[in-house]
Amino acid sequence: MQISEKLRDIFRKSTKVCVLTGAGISAESGVPTFRGGGNSAVWKGMPFDEISSAKMIKIDLDGVWEWFDYRRGILKDCEPNEGHHSLSRWENRFAEFLIVTQNIDGLHKIAGSQRIIELHGNINRSRCTKCRLKYEMEVDEIPHEPKICDLCDSPVRPDVVLFGEMLPEGYFEYATEFASNCELFFSIGTSAMVQPAASLTEIAKRNGAYCVEINPEETPASSLFDECLRGKAGDILPLLA
Ligand code: OAD
Repeated sequence: MQISEKLRDIFRKSTKVCVLTGAGISAESGVPTFRGGGNSAVWKGMPFDEISSAKMIKIDLDGVWEWFDYRRGILKDCEPNEGHHSLSRWENRFAEFLIVTQNIDGLHKIAGSQRIIELHGNINRSRCTKCRLKYEMEVDEIPHEPKICDLCDSPVRPDVVLFGEMLPEGYFEYATEFASNCELFFSIGTSAMVQPAASLTEIAKRNGAYCVEINPEETPASSLFDECLRGKAGDILPLLA
């Protein structure tokens, strides 16, 4: 793997670094990605962006939970990989550092990262559909509990952002602010197909950050980057530090 001298130099000197991550960083932990490798996830004949949609919460909440409990079942035995561990070490290396993740698997936190925005929520958290009270679930608590809110008796849903829903207020604004004045920006393991997360690269680039993509495959955003490192996150990230 060829890492340029320029990147090594910027990496050494940077004080503010922003990292956008997607499903690919967890692939080596055994978490299936949504796209890439010629596959798109399908659940019982339904594309993942249909079962994971705001509409389905209204018409088939039990079906949504079945899909999420299935994914929680896959995740409960998954552990952070070298990619997650490398990023958790970077937190102490740079004066200012932020991971903006689209992943809901919680693996960055398990690896020890603290400076992190989980843009799409967390699969082991649920919330009331009415009063929005939040509940943390144990990773092996499958099926989920509670099903009905302790406070207002309304159904409880996964606390994740579904297709057709807005991001939690303030999260993206904070990520944008950070990305717009970082010196070094990484996009790792994301197909760059889902907005607004994908637009963070453009924001960082427009404001002068050196932008690096880490992904075994080309993505629709690849031409924006100053440098594309083609390979697995778990192999490449340890080489950078
Ligand atoms: P995708 O599944 O769209 O893309 C995963 C990317 O990871 C692909 O570009 C792969 O080439 C790359 N990849 C695979 N293995 C890798 C490895 N070992 N190292 C580095 N990269 C690797 O996942 P996201 O871009 O995260 O949203 O998808 C974005 C959003 O779409 C998700 O957060 C989810 C989904 O709908 C919600 O659930 C709201």
